[in-house]
Amino acid sequence: MLILAPSILAADFTKLGGQIEETVKAGAEYIHLDVMDGMFVPQISFGMPVIETIRSCTDKVFDVHLMIEDPGRYIEAFAKAGADIITVHAEACTHLDRVIQQIRNAGVKACVALNPATPLSALDYVLDGLDMVLVMTVNPGFGGQKLIPYCLKKVSDLRTIMKDRGLSIDIEVDGGIKASNAKEVIASGANVLVGGSAVFAGDIIANTKAFMDVFAEVGKE
Ligand code: DX5
Ligand code: ZN
Repeated sequence: MLILAPSILAADFTKLGGQIEETVKAGAEYIHLDVMDGMFVPQISFGMPVIETIRSCTDKVFDVHLMIEDPGRYIEAFAKAGADIITVHAEACTHLDRVIQQIRNAGVKACVALNPATPLSALDYVLDGLDMVLVMTVNPGFGGQKLIPYCLKKVSDLRTIMKDRGLSIDIEVDGGIKASNAKEVIASGANVLVGGSAVFAGDIIANTKAFMDVFAEVGKE
């Protein structure tokens, strides 16, 4: 299934609830929540209290992307705040296997993210136990960057590895995704597309629908 996950990092925070509702009305299935700690990435964004507050805005899937060092410290807290999926960076976990178990034990879907330069081999032994893999298509930390083209090769290599293992795990891509490159991104093997500026800059409903049109078109092919 093709899914759009609007990243609220690019939203107008004075109108956050309404803007989330607009994306949902226009077809978004996930809400992507970028948590940044000023350590793993330079910026500081928001944490549990914001997630807890907006949980009442929608029943859609809360896709929490933790760009924080040593995320094992906060898994239970983010699960409690309303996360349905928790993504941790392989680069931020000394004990990745343990953190994945923690996510599962909290009753939440487990996803591991890889920065552009991190090889797929980081997932060799944990892939089978994941619900989703996030292949970063930019260096994390900021919205509005350009997609790094070699990351799509990484997505297609990952899809091949999954097929060889008989797995049909979701592949999410994040960074520089737009309706204009969505077709190419999907063709590479991704099925969950994060959109920040491409969703929230300008007309949110029209922007979301532009992604839905691509999904419909790809579905017909
Ligand atoms: C980047 C974040 C992204 C970001 C995407 O560090 O993980 O989710 O908000 O923004 P765009 O779609 O504008 O590149
Ligand atoms: Zn993200």
